[in-house]
Amino acid sequence: MGFSLLSTPAFLVFFLFFTSFLLPNPVLGITRHYKFDIKLHNVTRLCHTKSIVSVNGQFPGPRIVAREGDQLLIKVVNHVSKNISIHWHGIRQLRSGWADGPAYVTQCPIQTGQSYVYNFTIVGQRGTLFWHAHVSWLRATVYGPIVILPKRGVPHPFAKPYKEVPIIFGEWFNADPEAVISQALRTGGGPNVSDAYTINGHPGPLYNCSAKDTFKLKVKPGKTYLLRLINAALNDELFFSIANHSLTVVDVDAIYVKPFETGTLLIAPGQTTNVLLKTKPSYPSATFFMTARPYVTGQGTFDNSTVAGILEYESPPNSLHSSISIKMLPLFRPILPALNDTSFATNFVSKLRSLASAQFPANVPQKIDKHFFFTVGLGTIPCQQNQTCQGPNGTKFAASVNNVSFATPTTALLQAHFFAQSNGVYTPDFPNTPIISFNYTGTTPNNTMVSNGTKVVVLPFNATVELVMQDTSILGAESHPLHLHGFNFFVVGQGFGNFDPKKDPAKFNLVDPIERNTVGVPSGGWVAIRFLADNPGVWFMHCHLEVHTSWGLKMAWIVLDGKLPNQKLLPPPADLPKC
Ligand code: C2O
Repeated sequence: MGFSLLSTPAFLVFFLFFTSFLLPNPVLGITRHYKFDIKLHNVTRLCHTKSIVSVNGQFPGPRIVAREGDQLLIKVVNHVSKNISIHWHGIRQLRSGWADGPAYVTQCPIQTGQSYVYNFTIVGQRGTLFWHAHVSWLRATVYGPIVILPKRGVPHPFAKPYKEVPIIFGEWFNADPEAVISQALRTGGGPNVSDAYTINGHPGPLYNCSAKDTFKLKVKPGKTYLLRLINAALNDELFFSIANHSLTVVDVDAIYVKPFETGTLLIAPGQTTNVLLKTKPSYPSATFFMTARPYVTGQGTFDNSTVAGILEYESPPNSLHSSISIKMLPLFRPILPALNDTSFATNFVSKLRSLASAQFPANVPQKIDKHFFFTVGLGTIPCQQNQTCQGPNGTKFAASVNNVSFATPTTALLQAHFFAQSNGVYTPDFPNTPIISFNYTGTTPNNTMVSNGTKVVVLPFNATVELVMQDTSILGAESHPLHLHGFNFFVVGQGFGNFDPKKDPAKFNLVDPIERNTVGVPSGGWVAIRFLADNPGVWFMHCHLEVHTSWGLKMAWIVLDGKLPNQKLLPPPADLPKC
């Protein structure tokens, strides 16, 4: 965003320094402090009470609110026996990779009794993001919204909503999610599925023993509400709809889009979507369900249940209505697409376009320095001797990128990189293309075994990158929401079958492609993204279906420092956790 104190005349620095004490500076923003105490607390859902890891005794966790340009200082104190680490999902973390959060990638996790202050500034983003634990499956209960308001005095490119409401989807397990994943990794089989989906922590009335545990959105007629939708579920993309109401999508992943109307939307884990909800012009004498259930393309078992919340209109005062109990009103329920409705998914994502206005341009890289082609998908690893495994044909499930299943190191990649101590931690030889090419979406090769390693791609500062991600049909084609840390990227193309490097690039959208941080690689298809590697550091990229991350569908990019002082990764903070 071109603002650097280093290139600013001294008198101006002096001026900015002084005024920032007096008023919130429109350029620099303010500093906001938060404290996250990681503790255990008891929660009851579906008549099951269990102790969960959470933040400040809240589930979902506290809301972070900031303006574009603000600095955040979030002190995380670990009071539980497990190691913890928090990721600020979608925050660009320009030069502040130390605050990104994925365990053993940018930091060692915070140990019991220790604390760490995450220090970062929000630059060039406005909308909704979220934070979540980034170690093992702790994000099942450790997550919450990040609300980014535009700079003071800068309006949204749409009429100011009457009210703003975060709606965060989660996934509830009656069992301990940590036990679920550790059992799966031991046996090699698929993990047990969740028992419910939740809206703001509530499963809603369609589950047994849950009727009272329902999220209610109380609205007035004739108003516009901004719903900040967040998918924080572990393993499921979700369809979402509100009965008899349409929604206007205005922002995804904290980037404005060309507004479009839809009755139902699709949101993958790791994605956020701001929508405008226009309420009925007058009291409708009815209540409306808002429901979400999964979009599933894989072959494994999944939680096929439906979460419901209620949209309830305030009854006009001193009227007949106010004496009628809400329970007497007719209740409408939306019809969601079929669980495997890929054509809905394809049609929905094709409507997403960057706003690409003069004020909010789409800076799509036009000339590409580095091309990559990555396969993403499932595979297997051998069963240990004397064990029987529950994966395919007695093996264990694995997942990979270019057939490399990522081995998590025991020390953080970012430290190893910064202190030039990569020996024994990682190797810079992640393959640019698959080692063996095959018909990726055709008949599965006989050998489904993956290799294992801690490999990274090293990029020079400011390289323009094009990455094609190709789903494979090994153990079944499946949609994979791929998330890149440290950057937004442009989704320039996608299609089904195998990517054709001769024909497909001609169809790329280089004008107004959607800009985001998490994209669904279509089931049995491919997606092409472009980004500018302008952020020095180590950046994780992985499938945001947590089970696939656990199986190894992850890798990391290292972006080297640039020549100028403001193109270098900042030094590590003194309280950076040790391994
Ligand atoms: Cu929300 Cu690395 O993830």
